[in-house]
Amino acid sequence: MADVHRVLSLIDEIHHTLKWMKANGCRGFEARHSCLADSVAHMDDAPNTPPTSCALTSNILDDTPAMHIDPQDSLDSIQSDIVNCQRCKLAKTRTNIVFGEGTPSARLMFIGEAPGFDEDKQGKPFVGRAGQLLTKIIQAMGLTREQVFIGNVIKCRPPGNRNPEPDEILACAPFLNRQIAVIQPEFICALGTFAAQTLLHTTVPISKLRGQFHDCNGIQLMPTFHPSYLLRSPEKKRDVWEDIKLLMNAMGL
Ligand code: URA
Repeated sequence: MADVHRVLSLIDEIHHTLKWMKANGCRGFEARHSCLADSVAHMDDAPNTPPTSCALTSNILDDTPAMHIDPQDSLDSIQSDIVNCQRCKLAKTRTNIVFGEGTPSARLMFIGEAPGFDEDKQGKPFVGRAGQLLTKIIQAMGLTREQVFIGNVIKCRPPGNRNPEPDEILACAPFLNRQIAVIQPEFICALGTFAAQTLLHTTVPISKLRGQFHDCNGIQLMPTFHPSYLLRSPEKKRDVWEDIKLLMNAMGL
């Protein structure tokens, strides 16, 4: 996982530096080390400083036509790009792609790890036992599943619910990036270690991340324990409720 985080951060940095150069008038440079250094040096008097932070909504495959983020992008067009996706080996073992569901104008997105057995069969996110618990959490907030957006970092079930592998994360990340860019939620609730660490590009454990908001490119992100973990460790429900209350408070619910 640490390697994937490093690659994602690096790609983010490159993406932002290139965007900054473009915004400040650069229209191209030769891809040689010395030439790139020269181009950046000539931009010393550029009005804006280059952004340095991780940007979740940057698209790591921005140069490939199918992955291009544009203001016209929509959940429908993302869904049509993902139909019959063969970008990683999970295509061979999945039953259904689990795109995610909810309203495109959601203020809050719940993001989990990857579909499990029931989700793979039905093509819908969080519909198994963990999903029923998530539905209860959403209802306890005074919301319905239809008022939020529920998705996953990985859209296809890893066989036997094993952890997603680095190539699968890299292949699938652009779809989540685009979903977030289109929905522009004010809040994200990252469910479990994998989602929280992937979205925040960190290896800090979920027990340390939870309980406070983290900035994710302008979106307030609250990490909390995964509902599947709560099924195994019900004593952690109290912690999750504390996290959810912080979310509700911030959302004015
Ligand atoms: N666990 C997840 O992370 N996502 C689902 O959709 C179901 C279970």
